[in-house]
Amino acid sequence: MLKAKSIVSKDFIIGQTNDRLFGSFVEHMGSVVYNGIYEPGHGTADEDGFRQDVLGLAKELNLSVVRYPGGNFTSGYNWEDGVGPKAERPVKLDLAWRQIEPNSFGLDEFMRWTRKVGAEAIMTVNLGTRGIDEARNLIEYCNFARGSQYSDLRRSHGVEEPYGIRTWCLGNELDGEWQIARKTADEYGRLACETAKAMRWVDPSIELVAVGSSARHMPTFPEWDRTVLMHTYEHVDHLSLHHYIGKKQNDTKTFLAMPMEMEQQIKDVIATCDYVQSVKRTSKKMKLSFDEWNVWREPDVEYTPWQTGCPYDWVKFHMEDALVFGSALLSILRHSDRIDIACQSLLVNTIPMILTEKGGLAWRNPTFYPFQQVSRYGRGQALRLVTDSPKYDTSLYTDVEIVDSAAVYNEEKGELTVFAVNRGEESVRYDLDMRDFGSLSFEEHLVMRHERLNAVNTSDNPYEVRPQAGGETTLDGGKAECVLAPYSWNVIRFAAAK
Ligand code: AHR
Repeated sequence: MLKAKSIVSKDFIIGQTNDRLFGSFVEHMGSVVYNGIYEPGHGTADEDGFRQDVLGLAKELNLSVVRYPGGNFTSGYNWEDGVGPKAERPVKLDLAWRQIEPNSFGLDEFMRWTRKVGAEAIMTVNLGTRGIDEARNLIEYCNFARGSQYSDLRRSHGVEEPYGIRTWCLGNELDGEWQIARKTADEYGRLACETAKAMRWVDPSIELVAVGSSARHMPTFPEWDRTVLMHTYEHVDHLSLHHYIGKKQNDTKTFLAMPMEMEQQIKDVIATCDYVQSVKRTSKKMKLSFDEWNVWREPDVEYTPWQTGCPYDWVKFHMEDALVFGSALLSILRHSDRIDIACQSLLVNTIPMILTEKGGLAWRNPTFYPFQQVSRYGRGQALRLVTDSPKYDTSLYTDVEIVDSAAVYNEEKGELTVFAVNRGEESVRYDLDMRDFGSLSFEEHLVMRHERLNAVNTSDNPYEVRPQAGGETTLDGGKAECVLAPYSWNVIRFAAAK
């Protein structure tokens, strides 16, 4: 059997994982909103038209934040179209996804939905077709108490208390050719800076996210990020990054290694932020908002434009996607000293964690489980592991560690959790040296694997891919021996003294 080992010490602290790392994303895209979270007439719909089956699954994920309303959608959106009496709301063309937007779900519905889920909203303003004026009006509507045009408009819609939305994204992917009203880095940087100032004058307590490059492969990366930060550094709190991992060369070994690129992107963005910090001669450290990340796979359902609620990138993820997804999550945990916000993209029906059928069932994609487990056990201090793992090479990557792992220690709860992906086709004996923790006891070893890497969950068979208890781990005097099954996702939990 292959062998790997990690030293896990409570003194090797990366940082406290921010609650906002456990976030997701709801965009007016395909059937995320319509026929996803919102389907009046569905058998489980509540008085607001929210599907309670979907609400129940979203609650299981223990989401801290949910980003809204896009995405590319935001760059052509008028938020005013989505508030007030539904019968008076206009039907619009959404050019981002070429769909019909009925506006029967808007800002106030989203805020009600997030309250039911128990999550905080992250709001994105339109810096594509609109700008400073729209942004200042929107924040006045959301966060100003009363006695002004937009705060009173909100109150006239039955929302007496301000929402107090804390985190605001200054637009979305404005470096992208696909974006409505794409901008140069200088144009965007100036606009973001001036918008940030106006928004803070309405509510000084907010946190702002500037748009970083929409991918590492963009020709303007990381120059876009540097230029934007030169304009905005003093005025924003976070720089965004996005990353989607799609299988390359139909090769599993390469696919499983691809989160290494995501991790490299994180390092590159940190380096760019720190470079600008030096240029600015400031002590302020820029934090990152990984406000879109996920795996991607060819959709199972074809998209038809100019519909409402037509599935877009509706995909049943495979077992192997869940392994890549798990590794992506681990790379976020390993940088929790700099990443404050992370939103899996998207929650429902577009490369989703939750799948629905119109008028039918809702169920969990395999990626649901690693997210749920990291959201449950990944809150605490992320620890820097010292790991020795066997490695492999592919045509695209070298020195890929077969065991990809991260650990989080929650001192208050007395919980130590090691998360590990076995990227290999053989079992690995994984030794953990945790003697630094003094007395520990073994709680459980949860494993998600399947004989077929292309196994999926369907509405007829929704539990084909799911984690099971009973992974092999023994603990003796602070040293554990764990067996990581081939191609598996593992959550190994210990109880530590509080
Ligand atoms: O799949 C979601 C889309 O991907 C978002 O709208 C956009 O920001 C990204 O390109």
